[in-house]
Amino acid sequence: MRTAQTRHPSFPIVKFDEPISPKDGDEVWQALCGDRDRWRAGLYSPAQTSAVQIMELEQHDCPELFCLLEGRMTLVLARNRRIEKLELQPKIPVLVSAPHAGFCPDGPHTGRALVIERDSFDTKYATPGEFTTNQTLDFEPVDVKTDPEGN
Ligand SMILES: [Fe+2]
Repeated sequence: MRTAQTRHPSFPIVKFDEPISPKDGDEVWQALCGDRDRWRAGLYSPAQTSAVQIMELEQHDCPELFCLLEGRMTLVLARNRRIEKLELQPKIPVLVSAPHAGFCPDGPHTGRALVIERDSFDTKYATPGEFTTNQTLDFEPVDVKTDPEGN
């Protein structure tokens, strides 16, 4: 297992009130913009085309929202000591807290999802097997601040 920290500056400066143009090409991840000490948004487009190609999952200490923008993409999640696949549906957001990675079944980088997450967080990386074996033993629950009233 390895760990990484994401800290300021974790997103580019953009002009307010103007469209943001993502880079062209086969970027797996590109941060688009954010609000310091609050959130950042980016685009995710994995190169893997099947679950068996995923050698590593990542778990953050905060939740991460995925929303499919184009193409097809499936998330691989380690939940309840099992690996589960969740095919993203266009325009249907999913808030992910489990260890995760994604693949594009139609070819490398053929799917693209908008991701919204904190602009500062910690990440643990491990193999799917390590996460399913140790999931409830070694990993703290994600720190999610929610208000059931929606306020
Ligand atoms: Fe992630």
